[in-house]
Amino acid sequence: MTSAATVANDPQTAFDLGARLSRTPAPASIVIFGASGDLSHRKLMPALYNLALQQLLPSEMNIIGMSRSAWSDDQFREEVRQAVATHGAHDVLDADIWDAFARRLHYLSASFDNPGAYNDLRGALAHLNRSTGGLGNRLFYLATAPEFFPVIAEQLGGAGLASEDDDTFSRIVIEKPFGENLASARTLNERVGAVFGERQTYRIDHYLGKETVQNLLVLRFGNAIFEPIWNRRYVDHVQITVAEDLGVENRGGYYDQSGALRDIVQNHIFQVLSLVAMEPPARFDSRSVHDEKVKVLRAIPEITADNIHESAVRGQYRAGFIAGQPVVGYRAEHGVAPDSNTETFVAMRLTVDNWRWAGTPFYLRTGKRMPRRATEVAIQFKPAPHLPFAHTVVESTEPNLLILRIQPDEGTSLRFSAKVPGPQVDIRNVSMDFQYGSSFLKPTAEAYERLLLDALLGDSTLFARWDEVERGWEIVDELLHLWDSTPIAASNYAAGTWGPTEADALIRRDGREWRRL
Ligand code: BG6
Repeated sequence: MTSAATVANDPQTAFDLGARLSRTPAPASIVIFGASGDLSHRKLMPALYNLALQQLLPSEMNIIGMSRSAWSDDQFREEVRQAVATHGAHDVLDADIWDAFARRLHYLSASFDNPGAYNDLRGALAHLNRSTGGLGNRLFYLATAPEFFPVIAEQLGGAGLASEDDDTFSRIVIEKPFGENLASARTLNERVGAVFGERQTYRIDHYLGKETVQNLLVLRFGNAIFEPIWNRRYVDHVQITVAEDLGVENRGGYYDQSGALRDIVQNHIFQVLSLVAMEPPARFDSRSVHDEKVKVLRAIPEITADNIHESAVRGQYRAGFIAGQPVVGYRAEHGVAPDSNTETFVAMRLTVDNWRWAGTPFYLRTGKRMPRRATEVAIQFKPAPHLPFAHTVVESTEPNLLILRIQPDEGTSLRFSAKVPGPQVDIRNVSMDFQYGSSFLKPTAEAYERLLLDALLGDSTLFARWDEVERGWEIVDELLHLWDSTPIAASNYAAGTWGPTEADALIRRDGREWRRL
Protein backbone atom coordinates (compact mmCIF):
# COMPACT_ATOMS: atom_id res chain seq x y z
CA MET A 1 0.00 0.00 0.00
CA THR A 2 1.21 3.53 -0.71
CA SER A 3 1.98 5.34 2.50
CA ALA A 4 1.29 9.03 3.01
CA ALA A 5 5.03 9.62 3.10
CA THR A 6 5.58 7.95 -0.26
CA VAL A 7 2.80 9.97 -1.82
CA ALA A 8 4.21 13.19 -0.40
CA ASN A 9 7.57 12.52 -2.03
CA ASP A 10 6.08 11.83 -5.42
CA PRO A 11 4.53 15.07 -6.62
CA GLN A 12 3.21 13.58 -9.85
CA THR A 13 1.29 10.87 -8.05
CA ALA A 14 -0.57 12.78 -5.42
CA PHE A 15 -4.05 14.10 -5.74
CA ASP A 16 -5.38 13.24 -2.33
CA LEU A 17 -7.60 16.27 -2.14
CA GLY A 18 -7.74 16.72 1.61
CA ALA A 19 -4.64 15.07 2.93
CA ARG A 20 -2.22 16.98 0.81
CA LEU A 21 -2.77 20.17 2.78
CA SER A 22 -0.90 18.56 5.62
CA ARG A 23 2.24 18.33 3.49
CA THR A 24 5.09 20.77 3.75
CA PRO A 25 7.10 21.64 0.67
CA ALA A 26 10.89 21.67 0.48
CA PRO A 27 12.57 25.01 1.26
CA ALA A 28 12.51 27.41 -1.68
CA SER A 29 12.70 31.07 -2.56
CA ILE A 30 9.45 32.47 -3.89
CA VAL A 31 9.94 35.50 -6.12
CA ILE A 32 6.81 37.54 -6.74
CA PHE A 33 7.03 39.79 -9.79
CA GLY A 34 4.49 42.59 -9.49
CA ALA A 35 4.70 42.56 -5.69
CA SER A 36 3.26 46.06 -5.36
CA GLY A 37 0.21 45.16 -7.46
CA ASP A 38 -3.36 44.40 -6.61
CA LEU A 39 -3.19 40.61 -6.94
CA SER A 40 -0.19 40.38 -4.68
CA HIS A 41 -1.87 42.65 -2.13
CA ARG A 42 -5.31 41.04 -2.12
CA LYS A 43 -4.51 37.38 -2.75
CA LEU A 44 -0.89 36.23 -2.80
CA MET A 45 0.45 37.78 0.39
CA PRO A 46 -2.57 36.81 2.50
CA ALA A 47 -2.35 33.27 1.07
CA LEU A 48 1.37 32.97 1.89
CA TYR A 49 0.81 34.25 5.42
CA ASN A 50 -2.02 31.77 5.88
CA LEU A 51 0.23 28.93 4.75
CA ALA A 52 2.81 30.09 7.29
CA LEU A 53 0.10 30.21 9.96
CA GLN A 54 -0.76 26.59 9.22
CA GLN A 55 2.94 25.66 9.50
CA LEU A 56 2.99 24.73 5.83
CA LEU A 57 5.99 26.82 4.86
CA PRO A 58 9.37 25.58 6.08
CA SER A 59 11.40 28.10 8.07
CA GLU A 60 14.07 28.29 5.33
CA MET A 61 11.50 29.69 2.87
CA ASN A 62 12.23 33.19 1.52
CA ILE A 63 9.86 35.51 -0.29
CA ILE A 64 11.29 38.19 -2.54
CA GLY A 65 8.98 40.87 -3.86
CA MET A 66 9.98 42.57 -7.11
CA SER A 67 8.33 45.55 -8.76
CA ARG A 68 9.05 49.09 -9.84
CA SER A 69 8.05 50.80 -6.57
CA ALA A 70 11.14 52.09 -4.78
CA TRP A 71 10.57 50.32 -1.45
CA SER A 72 12.97 49.14 1.22
CA ASP A 73 12.57 45.69 2.80
CA ASP A 74 10.86 47.33 5.76
CA GLN A 75 8.43 49.27 3.59
CA PHE A 76 7.59 46.06 1.77
CA ARG A 77 7.02 44.27 5.09
CA GLU A 78 4.66 47.01 6.21
CA GLU A 79 2.81 46.85 2.90
CA VAL A 80 2.44 43.07 3.28
CA ARG A 81 1.29 43.42 6.90
CA GLN A 82 -1.49 45.72 5.79
CA ALA A 83 -2.41 43.42 2.93
CA VAL A 84 -2.67 40.43 5.26
CA ALA A 85 -4.64 42.35 7.90
CA THR A 86 -7.06 43.75 5.32
CA HIS A 87 -7.55 40.80 3.01
CA GLY A 88 -6.46 37.77 5.05
CA ALA A 89 -8.69 35.33 6.86
CA HIS A 90 -7.92 36.87 10.28
CA ASP A 91 -8.16 40.54 11.29
CA VAL A 92 -5.59 40.11 14.05
CA LEU A 93 -2.23 38.66 13.09
CA ASP A 94 -0.51 36.13 15.31
CA ALA A 95 2.48 38.16 16.56
CA ASP A 96 5.01 35.28 16.61
CA ILE A 97 4.00 33.90 13.24
CA TRP A 98 3.98 37.37 11.71
CA ASP A 99 7.47 38.20 13.06
CA ALA A 100 8.91 34.98 11.66
CA PHE A 101 7.05 35.52 8.37
CA ALA A 102 8.16 39.15 8.06
CA ARG A 103 11.80 38.15 8.49
CA ARG A 104 11.51 36.06 5.33
CA LEU A 105 10.21 38.97 3.25
CA HIS A 106 12.68 40.85 1.07
CA TYR A 107 12.27 43.37 -1.69
CA LEU A 108 14.05 44.31 -4.90
CA SER A 109 13.06 47.39 -6.84
CA ALA A 110 13.44 46.64 -10.54
CA SER A 111 12.42 47.29 -14.14
CA PHE A 112 11.39 43.93 -15.52
CA ASP A 113 13.27 44.45 -18.78
CA ASN A 114 16.56 45.41 -17.15
CA PRO A 115 19.11 42.55 -17.19
CA GLY A 116 20.91 44.16 -14.23
CA ALA A 117 17.84 43.51 -12.06
CA TYR A 118 18.15 39.78 -12.71
CA ASN A 119 21.83 39.79 -11.77
CA ASP A 120 20.79 41.49 -8.52
CA LEU A 121 18.11 38.84 -8.07
CA ARG A 122 20.61 36.03 -8.64
CA GLY A 123 22.91 37.60 -6.06
CA ALA A 124 20.08 38.02 -3.57
CA LEU A 125 18.96 34.40 -4.03
CA ALA A 126 22.48 33.10 -3.51
CA HIS A 127 22.91 35.22 -0.40
CA LEU A 128 19.57 34.14 1.08
CA ASN A 129 20.32 30.50 0.38
CA ARG A 130 23.60 30.76 2.23
CA SER A 131 22.20 32.68 5.17
CA THR A 132 19.00 30.66 5.67
CA GLY A 133 20.18 27.22 4.67
CA GLY A 134 17.82 27.12 1.67
CA LEU A 135 18.19 24.43 -0.96
CA GLY A 136 18.40 26.66 -4.01
CA ASN A 137 14.84 25.89 -5.17
CA ARG A 138 13.11 28.79 -6.94
CA LEU A 139 9.45 29.55 -7.64
CA PHE A 140 8.88 32.61 -9.82
CA TYR A 141 5.36 34.00 -9.69
CA LEU A 142 4.41 36.40 -12.48
CA ALA A 143 1.68 38.67 -11.11
CA THR A 144 2.46 41.51 -13.50
CA ALA A 145 0.77 43.06 -16.51
CA PRO A 146 0.70 40.34 -19.22
CA GLU A 147 3.12 42.11 -21.56
CA PHE A 148 5.87 41.35 -19.04
CA PHE A 149 5.28 37.57 -18.93
CA PRO A 150 7.60 36.66 -21.84
CA VAL A 151 10.07 39.42 -20.95
CA ILE A 152 10.51 38.13 -17.40
CA ALA A 153 10.78 34.51 -18.51
CA GLU A 154 13.49 35.39 -21.04
CA GLN A 155 15.39 37.56 -18.57
CA LEU A 156 15.30 34.78 -15.99
CA GLY A 157 16.70 32.42 -18.61
CA GLY A 158 19.39 34.93 -19.55
CA ALA A 159 20.46 35.20 -15.91
CA GLY A 160 20.70 31.41 -15.63
CA LEU A 161 17.81 31.26 -13.16
CA ALA A 162 15.58 28.89 -15.12
CA SER A 163 17.90 25.91 -15.05
CA GLU A 164 17.33 22.96 -12.74
CA ASP A 165 19.45 20.05 -11.66
CA ASP A 166 18.68 16.77 -9.94
CA ASP A 167 18.40 18.41 -6.55
CA THR A 168 16.84 21.81 -7.20
CA PHE A 169 13.80 23.06 -9.04
CA SER A 170 13.06 26.27 -10.86
CA ARG A 171 9.37 26.84 -11.69
CA ILE A 172 7.40 29.66 -13.19
CA VAL A 173 3.79 30.43 -12.30
CA ILE A 174 1.98 32.53 -14.88
CA GLU A 175 -1.17 34.45 -14.08
CA LYS A 176 -4.00 34.94 -16.51
CA PRO A 177 -4.60 36.16 -19.13
CA PHE A 178 -2.48 33.62 -21.00
CA GLY A 179 -2.64 35.48 -24.33
CA GLU A 180 -5.44 37.60 -25.71
CA ASN A 181 -6.30 35.31 -28.62
CA LEU A 182 -5.02 32.08 -30.14
CA ALA A 183 -2.07 33.63 -31.96
CA SER A 184 -0.79 35.68 -29.03
CA ALA A 185 -1.22 32.73 -26.63
CA ARG A 186 0.89 30.57 -28.96
CA THR A 187 3.58 33.23 -29.16
CA LEU A 188 3.63 33.62 -25.39
CA ASN A 189 3.84 29.88 -24.93
CA GLU A 190 6.72 29.60 -27.38
CA ARG A 191 8.66 32.40 -25.71
CA VAL A 192 8.16 31.04 -22.21
CA GLY A 193 8.69 27.48 -23.46
CA ALA A 194 12.06 28.40 -24.93
CA VAL A 195 13.23 28.99 -21.35
CA PHE A 196 11.03 26.90 -19.04
CA GLY A 197 9.87 23.40 -19.98
CA GLU A 198 6.17 22.45 -19.69
CA ARG A 199 7.00 20.56 -16.50
CA GLN A 200 8.37 23.78 -14.99
CA THR A 201 5.42 25.94 -16.14
CA TYR A 202 2.34 26.45 -13.98
CA ARG A 203 -0.52 28.37 -15.66
CA ILE A 204 -2.84 29.57 -12.94
CA ASP A 205 -6.58 29.34 -13.18
CA HIS A 206 -7.72 30.22 -9.70
CA TYR A 207 -11.07 28.47 -10.22
CA LEU A 208 -9.22 25.16 -10.03
CA GLY A 209 -8.02 26.08 -6.55
CA LYS A 210 -11.57 26.55 -5.28
CA GLU A 211 -12.55 23.82 -2.86
CA THR A 212 -15.97 23.39 -4.47
CA VAL A 213 -14.51 22.98 -7.94
CA GLN A 214 -12.25 20.22 -6.63
CA ASN A 215 -15.25 18.69 -4.91
CA LEU A 216 -16.76 18.16 -8.32
CA LEU A 217 -14.20 15.41 -8.87
CA VAL A 218 -14.86 13.84 -5.51
CA LEU A 219 -18.60 13.97 -6.06
CA ARG A 220 -18.28 12.32 -9.45
CA PHE A 221 -15.54 9.80 -8.80
CA GLY A 222 -15.65 9.27 -5.04
CA ASN A 223 -19.29 8.10 -5.08
CA ALA A 224 -20.83 5.18 -6.85
CA ILE A 225 -24.27 6.65 -7.47
CA PHE A 226 -23.60 9.61 -9.77
CA GLU A 227 -21.32 8.29 -12.49
CA PRO A 228 -23.76 5.73 -13.95
CA ILE A 229 -26.29 8.50 -14.70
CA TRP A 230 -23.75 11.17 -15.71
CA ASN A 231 -24.38 10.96 -19.42
CA ARG A 232 -26.69 11.70 -22.34
CA ARG A 233 -29.17 8.95 -21.40
CA TYR A 234 -30.07 10.60 -18.11
CA VAL A 235 -28.90 14.22 -18.33
CA ASP A 236 -31.15 16.57 -20.28
CA HIS A 237 -28.72 19.49 -20.21
CA VAL A 238 -26.13 21.26 -18.07
CA GLN A 239 -26.04 24.93 -17.08
CA ILE A 240 -22.88 26.62 -15.85
CA THR A 241 -23.31 30.12 -14.46
CA VAL A 242 -20.63 32.55 -13.27
CA ALA A 243 -22.59 35.65 -12.27
CA GLU A 244 -21.10 38.68 -10.54
CA ASP A 245 -22.94 41.65 -9.11
CA LEU A 246 -19.76 43.71 -9.27
CA GLY A 247 -19.00 45.88 -12.26
CA VAL A 248 -15.45 46.37 -13.52
CA GLU A 249 -14.37 48.19 -10.33
CA ASN A 250 -10.96 49.81 -10.84
CA ARG A 251 -10.01 47.44 -13.67
CA GLY A 252 -11.81 49.22 -16.51
CA GLY A 253 -8.60 49.66 -18.53
CA TYR A 254 -7.83 45.92 -18.46
CA TYR A 255 -11.40 44.77 -18.83
CA ASP A 256 -12.17 46.95 -21.81
CA GLN A 257 -9.41 45.16 -23.73
CA SER A 258 -10.59 41.80 -22.51
CA GLY A 259 -14.35 41.36 -22.12
CA ALA A 260 -16.29 38.51 -20.55
CA LEU A 261 -15.41 35.88 -23.16
CA ARG A 262 -11.66 36.19 -22.58
CA ASP A 263 -11.92 37.07 -18.89
CA ILE A 264 -14.15 34.20 -17.72
CA VAL A 265 -15.28 31.81 -20.47
CA GLN A 266 -11.99 30.87 -22.16
CA ASN A 267 -10.43 29.93 -18.83
CA HIS A 268 -12.63 29.56 -15.74
CA ILE A 269 -15.80 28.27 -17.41
CA PHE A 270 -13.98 25.95 -19.80
CA GLN A 271 -12.01 24.50 -16.89
CA VAL A 272 -15.19 23.84 -14.91
CA LEU A 273 -16.89 22.44 -18.01
CA SER A 274 -14.06 20.02 -18.67
CA LEU A 275 -14.20 18.73 -15.08
CA VAL A 276 -17.96 18.26 -15.35
CA ALA A 277 -17.80 16.44 -18.68
CA MET A 278 -14.55 14.47 -18.59
CA GLU A 279 -14.21 10.71 -18.45
CA PRO A 280 -13.01 9.23 -15.14
CA PRO A 281 -9.22 9.38 -15.20
CA ALA A 282 -7.53 6.09 -14.38
CA ARG A 283 -5.44 7.84 -11.73
CA PHE A 284 -5.54 11.22 -10.09
CA ASP A 285 -2.20 12.36 -11.30
CA SER A 286 -1.54 15.47 -13.28
CA ARG A 287 -1.12 13.79 -16.65
CA SER A 288 -4.17 11.55 -16.46
CA VAL A 289 -6.45 14.38 -15.35
CA HIS A 290 -5.17 16.79 -18.02
CA ASP A 291 -5.44 14.12 -20.71
CA GLU A 292 -9.12 13.62 -19.94
CA LYS A 293 -9.89 17.33 -19.65
CA VAL A 294 -8.39 18.21 -23.00
CA LYS A 295 -10.40 15.45 -24.71
CA VAL A 296 -13.58 17.23 -23.62
CA LEU A 297 -12.42 20.53 -25.07
CA ARG A 298 -11.44 18.82 -28.30
CA ALA A 299 -14.95 17.37 -28.59
CA ILE A 300 -16.52 20.85 -28.63
CA PRO A 301 -17.18 21.92 -32.21
CA GLU A 302 -15.91 25.29 -33.30
CA ILE A 303 -18.23 28.25 -33.56
CA THR A 304 -18.51 29.57 -37.10
CA ALA A 305 -20.40 32.32 -38.94
CA ASP A 306 -23.02 29.67 -39.77
CA ASN A 307 -23.82 28.59 -36.22
CA ILE A 308 -22.98 31.72 -34.22
CA HIS A 309 -26.61 32.69 -33.69
CA GLU A 310 -27.50 29.41 -32.01
CA SER A 311 -24.18 29.32 -30.13
CA ALA A 312 -23.41 32.67 -28.53
CA VAL A 313 -24.92 35.92 -27.36
CA ARG A 314 -23.12 38.90 -25.87
CA GLY A 315 -24.29 41.86 -23.85
CA GLN A 316 -23.12 45.05 -22.23
CA TYR A 317 -24.74 46.56 -19.15
CA ARG A 318 -26.34 49.94 -19.05
CA ALA A 319 -27.08 51.94 -15.90
CA GLY A 320 -29.36 50.20 -13.43
CA PHE A 321 -29.68 49.16 -9.80
CA ILE A 322 -27.72 46.69 -7.68
CA ALA A 323 -29.21 45.93 -4.26
CA GLY A 324 -31.39 48.99 -4.62
CA GLN A 325 -28.47 51.33 -5.31
CA PRO A 326 -28.08 53.08 -8.68
CA VAL A 327 -24.96 52.13 -10.65
CA VAL A 328 -23.56 53.57 -13.87
CA GLY A 329 -23.55 51.81 -17.21
CA TYR A 330 -20.42 50.08 -18.52
CA ARG A 331 -19.49 52.83 -20.95
CA ALA A 332 -19.43 55.35 -18.10
CA GLU A 333 -17.04 53.24 -15.99
CA HIS A 334 -13.57 54.59 -15.31
CA GLY A 335 -11.04 53.41 -17.91
CA VAL A 336 -13.73 52.27 -20.39
CA ALA A 337 -14.08 53.86 -23.85
CA PRO A 338 -17.37 55.80 -24.15
CA ASP A 339 -18.15 53.91 -27.36
CA SER A 340 -16.76 50.57 -26.12
CA ASN A 341 -17.66 47.44 -28.06
CA THR A 342 -16.60 45.14 -25.19
CA GLU A 343 -19.03 42.54 -23.88
CA THR A 344 -19.73 42.30 -20.15
CA PHE A 345 -22.07 39.33 -20.57
CA VAL A 346 -21.82 36.14 -22.60
CA ALA A 347 -24.25 33.25 -22.97
CA MET A 348 -23.30 30.18 -24.99
CA ARG A 349 -24.77 26.90 -26.07
CA LEU A 350 -22.11 24.27 -26.68
CA THR A 351 -22.15 20.56 -27.33
CA VAL A 352 -19.58 17.96 -26.42
CA ASP A 353 -19.67 15.63 -29.37
CA ASN A 354 -18.68 12.27 -27.94
CA TRP A 355 -20.47 9.08 -26.90
CA ARG A 356 -21.13 10.30 -23.37
CA TRP A 357 -22.61 13.67 -24.25
CA ALA A 358 -23.88 13.70 -27.86
CA GLY A 359 -27.18 15.59 -27.93
CA THR A 360 -26.89 17.02 -24.39
CA PRO A 361 -26.35 20.77 -24.61
CA PHE A 362 -24.17 22.71 -22.19
CA TYR A 363 -25.43 26.24 -21.59
CA LEU A 364 -22.88 28.68 -20.21
CA ARG A 365 -23.43 32.22 -19.01
CA THR A 366 -21.38 34.84 -17.27
CA GLY A 367 -21.84 38.51 -16.64
CA LYS A 368 -20.89 41.54 -14.63
CA ARG A 369 -23.60 43.52 -12.83
CA MET A 370 -25.98 40.59 -12.55
CA PRO A 371 -28.51 40.74 -9.71
CA ARG A 372 -26.25 38.70 -7.45
CA ARG A 373 -22.98 36.81 -7.18
CA ALA A 374 -23.58 33.16 -7.90
CA THR A 375 -21.40 30.52 -9.49
CA GLU A 376 -22.90 27.09 -9.97
CA VAL A 377 -23.16 24.02 -12.13
CA ALA A 378 -26.68 22.66 -12.59
CA ILE A 379 -27.19 19.16 -13.96
CA GLN A 380 -30.76 18.90 -15.16
CA PHE A 381 -31.88 15.29 -15.53
CA LYS A 382 -34.47 13.99 -17.96
CA PRO A 383 -38.07 13.72 -16.77
CA ALA A 384 -39.36 10.48 -15.30
CA PRO A 385 -40.28 8.37 -18.34
CA HIS A 386 -43.67 7.26 -17.00
CA LEU A 387 -45.85 8.39 -14.07
CA PRO A 388 -47.88 5.52 -12.66
CA PHE A 389 -50.15 7.69 -10.50
CA ALA A 390 -53.38 7.12 -12.40
CA HIS A 391 -56.56 8.66 -10.97
CA THR A 392 -54.61 11.18 -8.91
CA VAL A 393 -53.95 14.91 -9.23
CA VAL A 394 -50.44 14.23 -10.52
CA GLU A 395 -50.00 14.75 -14.20
CA SER A 396 -46.33 15.59 -14.26
CA THR A 397 -43.35 16.01 -11.98
CA GLU A 398 -40.39 18.32 -12.28
CA PRO A 399 -37.21 16.68 -13.49
CA ASN A 400 -34.45 16.01 -10.98
CA LEU A 401 -31.80 18.65 -10.64
CA LEU A 402 -28.35 18.40 -9.11
CA ILE A 403 -26.89 21.79 -8.22
CA LEU A 404 -23.24 22.22 -7.38
CA ARG A 405 -22.91 25.63 -5.74
CA ILE A 406 -19.37 26.84 -6.25
CA GLN A 407 -19.87 30.17 -4.51
CA PRO A 408 -21.22 31.65 -2.33
CA ASP A 409 -23.09 29.23 0.02
CA GLU A 410 -20.80 26.45 -1.17
CA GLY A 411 -22.58 23.12 -1.28
CA THR A 412 -24.62 20.64 -3.27
CA SER A 413 -28.39 20.21 -3.59
CA LEU A 414 -30.46 17.50 -5.15
CA ARG A 415 -34.02 18.40 -6.12
CA PHE A 416 -36.46 15.53 -6.34
CA SER A 417 -40.18 14.84 -6.08
CA ALA A 418 -41.81 13.97 -2.75
CA LYS A 419 -45.35 13.18 -1.75
CA VAL A 420 -47.17 15.93 0.08
CA PRO A 421 -48.53 14.40 3.33
CA GLY A 422 -52.25 13.69 3.10
CA PRO A 423 -54.82 11.19 1.86
CA GLN A 424 -54.24 11.79 -1.84
CA VAL A 425 -51.16 11.59 -4.06
CA ASP A 426 -49.91 15.10 -4.50
CA ILE A 427 -46.30 15.71 -5.37
CA ARG A 428 -43.92 18.61 -4.74
CA ASN A 429 -40.30 19.25 -5.47
CA VAL A 430 -38.03 19.18 -2.41
CA SER A 431 -34.29 19.60 -1.82
CA MET A 432 -31.66 17.51 -0.16
CA ASP A 433 -28.91 19.87 0.81
CA PHE A 434 -25.25 19.65 1.72
CA GLN A 435 -23.55 22.85 2.89
CA TYR A 436 -19.83 23.16 3.43
CA GLY A 437 -20.20 25.67 6.25
CA SER A 438 -22.47 23.59 8.45
CA SER A 439 -20.99 20.20 7.54
CA PHE A 440 -17.33 20.94 8.15
CA LEU A 441 -17.54 23.92 10.52
CA LYS A 442 -14.48 25.55 9.07
CA PRO A 443 -14.01 28.07 6.30
CA THR A 444 -13.01 26.71 2.91
CA ALA A 445 -9.38 27.45 2.01
CA GLU A 446 -8.60 30.30 -0.36
CA ALA A 447 -7.83 29.11 -3.89
CA TYR A 448 -4.42 30.80 -3.96
CA GLU A 449 -3.26 29.01 -0.83
CA ARG A 450 -3.88 25.67 -2.38
CA LEU A 451 -2.33 26.61 -5.73
CA LEU A 452 0.81 28.18 -4.24
CA LEU A 453 1.33 25.10 -2.15
CA ASP A 454 0.84 22.79 -5.12
CA ALA A 455 3.33 24.77 -7.22
CA LEU A 456 5.86 24.47 -4.42
CA LEU A 457 5.15 20.75 -4.18
CA GLY A 458 5.53 20.32 -7.92
CA ASP A 459 1.95 19.15 -8.48
CA SER A 460 0.47 20.69 -11.63
CA THR A 461 -2.86 18.84 -11.52
CA LEU A 462 -4.79 21.99 -10.61
CA PHE A 463 -3.07 24.18 -13.21
CA ALA A 464 -3.91 24.52 -16.90
CA ARG A 465 -1.77 22.51 -19.29
CA TRP A 466 -0.84 24.22 -22.55
CA ASP A 467 -3.02 22.03 -24.79
CA GLU A 468 -6.08 22.94 -22.69
CA VAL A 469 -5.32 26.64 -22.93
CA GLU A 470 -4.70 26.37 -26.65
CA ARG A 471 -7.92 24.45 -27.27
CA GLY A 472 -9.86 27.01 -25.22
CA TRP A 473 -8.52 29.75 -27.47
CA GLU A 474 -9.30 27.73 -30.61
CA ILE A 475 -12.94 27.50 -29.55
CA VAL A 476 -13.37 31.21 -28.84
CA ASP A 477 -11.07 32.61 -31.51
CA GLU A 478 -13.55 32.54 -34.38
CA LEU A 479 -16.19 34.07 -32.14
CA LEU A 480 -13.81 36.89 -31.21
CA HIS A 481 -13.17 37.58 -34.90
CA LEU A 482 -16.87 37.58 -35.71
CA TRP A 483 -17.66 39.88 -32.81
CA ASP A 484 -14.74 42.21 -33.56
CA SER A 485 -16.20 42.98 -36.94
CA THR A 486 -19.75 43.74 -35.74
CA PRO A 487 -20.79 46.38 -33.21
CA ILE A 488 -22.33 45.17 -29.97
CA ALA A 489 -26.00 45.88 -29.36
CA ALA A 490 -24.96 48.57 -26.89
CA SER A 491 -26.34 48.62 -23.40
CA ASN A 492 -28.67 45.73 -24.09
CA TYR A 493 -29.21 44.79 -20.45
CA ALA A 494 -29.75 46.92 -17.40
CA ALA A 495 -27.34 46.50 -14.47
CA GLY A 496 -29.07 44.29 -11.92
CA THR A 497 -30.77 42.02 -14.47
CA TRP A 498 -29.87 38.58 -15.83
CA GLY A 499 -28.59 39.75 -19.20
CA PRO A 500 -30.10 40.59 -22.58
CA THR A 501 -33.32 39.05 -23.87
CA GLU A 502 -31.28 37.40 -26.64
CA ALA A 503 -29.79 35.14 -23.95
CA ASP A 504 -33.28 33.92 -23.07
CA ALA A 505 -34.01 33.37 -26.74
CA LEU A 506 -30.81 31.28 -27.06
CA ILE A 507 -32.01 28.71 -24.54
CA ARG A 508 -35.75 28.97 -25.29
CA ARG A 509 -35.05 27.95 -28.86
CA ASP A 510 -34.38 24.50 -27.36
CA GLY A 511 -37.52 24.68 -25.20
CA ARG A 512 -35.53 25.27 -22.00
CA GLU A 513 -35.08 28.11 -19.50
CA TRP A 514 -32.16 29.55 -17.58
CA ARG A 515 -32.29 28.72 -13.93
CA ARG A 516 -33.55 31.53 -11.73
CA LEU A 517 -30.83 32.20 -9.18
C1 BG6 B 1 -10.96 36.91 -12.51
C2 BG6 B 1 -11.52 37.91 -13.47
O1 BG6 B 1 -10.19 35.95 -13.19
O2 BG6 B 1 -12.02 36.25 -11.84
C3 BG6 B 1 -12.42 38.90 -12.76
O3 BG6 B 1 -10.47 38.60 -14.11
C4 BG6 B 1 -13.47 38.18 -11.96
O4 BG6 B 1 -13.03 39.80 -13.68
C5 BG6 B 1 -12.84 37.11 -11.08
O5 BG6 B 1 -14.14 39.14 -11.15
C6 BG6 B 1 -13.90 36.26 -10.43
O6 BG6 B 1 -13.27 35.43 -9.48
P1 BG6 B 1 -14.07 34.91 -8.22
O7 BG6 B 1 -13.10 34.02 -7.54
O8 BG6 B 1 -14.47 36.10 -7.42
O9 BG6 B 1 -15.26 34.19 -8.79
